[in-house]
Amino acid sequence: MIDKNYLKVLKELGFEEIILDKSILNQKSSNQIDKIEELNKIYKEIKVCTKCDLHKSRTNPVLGEGNVNAKIMFIGEAPGEEEDKQGRPFVGRAGKLLTKCIENAGHRREEVYIANINKCRPPNNRTPTIEEQETCIPFLLRQIEIINPKVLCLLGATAYRGIFKKEAKITKERGSILEFMGKKVYITYHPAYVLRNPKEEETFCQDIKNVFKLAGE
Ligand code: URA
Repeated sequence: MIDKNYLKVLKELGFEEIILDKSILNQKSSNQIDKIEELNKIYKEIKVCTKCDLHKSRTNPVLGEGNVNAKIMFIGEAPGEEEDKQGRPFVGRAGKLLTKCIENAGHRREEVYIANINKCRPPNNRTPTIEEQETCIPFLLRQIEIINPKVLCLLGATAYRGIFKKEAKITKERGSILEFMGKKVYITYHPAYVLRNPKEEETFCQDIKNVFKLAGE
């Protein structure tokens, strides 16, 4: 039996022709399709979201991307200029560094899921206000529930504040492992901080390796 929703989701993802191999409709793929559908619902909501002022200057909201069955979910702050243009997370300079460290750890970016505290770019890349963060975080919590990763990796102070609701000095907290929603949470630098402080690159890359180990990867 072909699931109509499956076809709908694929169409929304841009597939125009589908050659169906029924063997892919096993338990695992239907679970994957459910997740894609749920994420798509969130995407439709953020596309028209006007809950905070950040919508006024956005080009594209950035939901997140990656493997919907990922064991690891990276959480950054908010889209920057390039992310706002492309509608994808971590595709600018900071993203390239994150991708490089994932690859150095022997993995591929496509294996993990990458999201942010805020879905819209703050003007001039300023830090989103606490109010803006709190308005947007319910979307992220739904993403965490859907993806259900083993490990969350918080990239920088805004991700930490958004999740734990308290300020932290990341230079002090980095490397620590906490818990949230029953998941292990690894704290590390934001890659943009590492770009400004290149002597921290080795530490950051080692943290990313530790994250994969923590997830049993
Ligand atoms: N910085 C972030 O925090 N997130 C992105 O997606 C890009 C840069």
